[in-house]
Amino acid sequence: MTRVLVLNGPNLARLGSREPDVYGTADYAELTARCRKVGGELGLDVDVRQTDDETELVHWLHEAADGAVPVVLNPAAFTHYSYALRDACAQLRAPLVEVHLTNPAAREEFRHTSVVAGVATGTVAGFGLESYALALRAIAALTAHR
Ligand code: DQA
Repeated sequence: MTRVLVLNGPNLARLGSREPDVYGTADYAELTARCRKVGGELGLDVDVRQTDDETELVHWLHEAADGAVPVVLNPAAFTHYSYALRDACAQLRAPLVEVHLTNPAAREEFRHTSVVAGVATGTVAGFGLESYALALRAIAALTAHR
């Protein structure tokens, strides 16, 4: 079974109560449940994590790099400025799918830049929790030959 890390950055554990008009009413528990369900259907062993801490997120990416583990990453606000996160992503040896619940390109100007996108295999944005399901489908397709 292919192992996949689904990593979530700052404020994402607050889904449900966080700006529901922007991020919807589904909470973080629903996000993790959806990822595990879709992952199970795709034959993926999905490990979903969230942190508000940049260091912890970088260390999880090192773990994925060392184990050649595919990653679905919602870097949240780190997307827009964390070169440390980008450098950690650049070390990955398996597919990396950047995901966003919202479509950052349709929001404030500072969200239009992703410092991660250039080292990701691809990006899925704007579909709410479905962004994660689509990202896991991409990982399953890309790792099918393993
Ligand atoms: C987000 C978009 C980011 O701009 C924002 O900082 C987030 C969530 C999204 O999933 O839409 O925290 O990554």
